Amino acid sequence: MNSPLLEPYRGPALHLPNRTAMAAMTRARADDATGAPIPLMAEYYAQRATAGLIVSEGIWPHRLGKGGPGVPGLTGQAHVEGWRRVTRAVHDAGGRVFAQLWHVGRVSHPDILGGEQPVAPSAVAVSPGHGQIYTASGPQEYVVPRALTTAEVTETVEAHASAARNAIDAGFDGVEISGAYGYLLAQFLSDNANLRTDGYGDHVRFVIEVVEAVAAAIGADRTALRVSPGNPLLDTVETDPASRYHRLLDALNGMDLAYLHVVQSGKYAALADLRPRWNGTLVATYDGPEPGSREQAEQALRTGLADVYSFGRLFLANPDLPRRIADDAPLNPQRASGMYGGGGEGYVDYPVLAGSSVGPAPGSDIR
Ligand SMILES: Cc1cc2nc3c(=O)[nH]c(=O)nc-3n(C[C@H](O)[C@H](O)[C@H](O)COP(=O)(O)O)c2cc1C
Repeated sequence: MNSPLLEPYRGPALHLPNRTAMAAMTRARADDATGAPIPLMAEYYAQRATAGLIVSEGIWPHRLGKGGPGVPGLTGQAHVEGWRRVTRAVHDAGGRVFAQLWHVGRVSHPDILGGEQPVAPSAVAVSPGHGQIYTASGPQEYVVPRALTTAEVTETVEAHASAARNAIDAGFDGVEISGAYGYLLAQFLSDNANLRTDGYGDHVRFVIEVVEAVAAAIGADRTALRVSPGNPLLDTVETDPASRYHRLLDALNGMDLAYLHVVQSGKYAALADLRPRWNGTLVATYDGPEPGSREQAEQALRTGLADVYSFGRLFLANPDLPRRIADDAPLNPQRASGMYGGGGEGYVDYPVLAGSSVGPAPGSDIR
């Protein structure tokens, strides 16, 4: 069946065989003591290599950026070697994969950080009523984080650049910086988590510096940013998302990044507002209680709101999603078990259609 999702994409920097990306999804299967990826992760990603682009699960770029048990890192040699197995498996299967750098800031816990206190723009905790933090001993209340000193903010910017270099060393095709969903960069962007009185009280400055540092380290054409404007997740409030993100885009527009990834959820119509203001490639995700659908994705492409659409849960349960779109085939439902942590169950055992195999996406000759 004809679908704009299956058309190739040729952006200024990004060339994809189809417009179906796999969104970053934390699956919590790395070695918890070291943060090194395990071989099963290579199998999982290679199974999904027919995506136009895979974005890896969130990966901590600094030891204090880790947000839960089994979340992988990208700060040391063991991480690079583990990820190299993953990227090789994806490339051998014909795919492309970006690493998502994900510093969680205050959304962590001393039990996750080897006894250290989580860090944040300001010493403001996620308030009660916004869930709990999952640790190896079960869910716990959020703690009050420690405000990063100005020197530590610089160190954290540098940590992103260093992890990005490691990502390229490990064979990733690029890096997507997580600025979405209430984590460290989104905490800086927010009005209630960033009460700083130094230069980083300017809510967009940290994000811009991280993007600049990563782009300087690995090239702007391999650097991407994910944002979720107006998303109140994890107790972050942006009272006027339009003006904040206009300012951010004004600063990023000249940089020629690989792409900007916009998650639309909540009240602010981010895609309609930001698309006309963004000069480069735009990847979109709609986030709501139900998984983003093929119909929503096709509509976003047809109306020009996005160049590429990124699916999370549908790719989790359907390793051969582009083929299923091409064949108009039914989709596997997602199972509750195995979402976070565990072994292969609910991870590498989702069935593919008969005749599907990992390999270049339908109709693809572009790499
Ligand atoms: C199991 C799971 C883990 C996720 N982990 C991440 C993550 O590490 N980084 C991120 O930016 N988003 C993460 N997300 C959000 C997804 O990338 C996506 O934006 C969201 O699921 C909405 O898309 P969907 O409706 O297609 O699933 C996660 C979602 C799921 C379901």
